[in-house]
Amino acid sequence: MKSVPHHVGVVMDGNGRWATRRGLPRTEGHGAGEKALVDTAYGALALGVKALTVYAFSTENWRRPIDEVRYLMNFNRGLLERRQHELHAEGVRITFSGRRDWRVPRGVLSRMDEAAELTKNNKVMTLNIAFNYGGRAEIVDAVKRLIDEGVSAKKVDEKAIRAHLYHPELPDPDLVVRTSGEFRTSNFLLWEMAYSELVFTDVLWPDFRREDLYAAISEYQLRERRFGGVDS
Ligand code: IPE
Ligand code: IPE
Ligand code: MG
Repeated sequence: MKSVPHHVGVVMDGNGRWATRRGLPRTEGHGAGEKALVDTAYGALALGVKALTVYAFSTENWRRPIDEVRYLMNFNRGLLERRQHELHAEGVRITFSGRRDWRVPRGVLSRMDEAAELTKNNKVMTLNIAFNYGGRAEIVDAVKRLIDEGVSAKKVDEKAIRAHLYHPELPDPDLVVRTSGEFRTSNFLLWEMAYSELVFTDVLWPDFRREDLYAAISEYQLRERRFGGVDS
């Protein structure tokens, strides 16, 4: 149990390939990812992880075929409908990181608001869903808000930018896991990930289970974090 990460980020990737390998449409892979997400969240809860940020839809995912985008919107709405009450019962606070722009259907936004409202006082763990999220967009949005607040240039520092990110109350992720054998960030938590430990696994997201999270955490526990300093 030594050094369980406080905040874990997960790039849930490989749904399309999982489905294609089975001769199924890509969307079936997204559907199969629900079990992976729920099991991973329960695994994180069991270990005492305090925050889990999962990448569900990126600002670049709008480039996908319209049917897939539509599926993902409905799927994420349905996922909240199906799961918010059990997560609430476990003391999970559900939050969202991302842009609420006109492309996100109203029905999806209202489900998000409902889940956030229902669970807002929960303290056991935060499940932060990065939805219509881009790391660059997050930094742009933070800078815009600083300007709107009339903050002068000489007051702009890292602390000020950080305080204007989507969830400044969450500590930076200690560990970020990406599934499906891709070695890139794809615009996930750019600011927050500066000193995160990265773990990559070939497991495709729909096959990911809490044991895979535990394996990633074991790898994390072998790392030596220096934050630019020298070994102690
Ligand atoms: C991740 O799986 C889910 C989202 C990006 C929404 P993909 O759909 O990217 O699956 P692959 O990478 O094409 O296999
Ligand atoms: C990142 O995966 C986004 C999510 C998991 C939601 P992508 O599949 O969209 O990223 P690329 O295209 O492989 O970089
Ligand atoms: Mg992908």
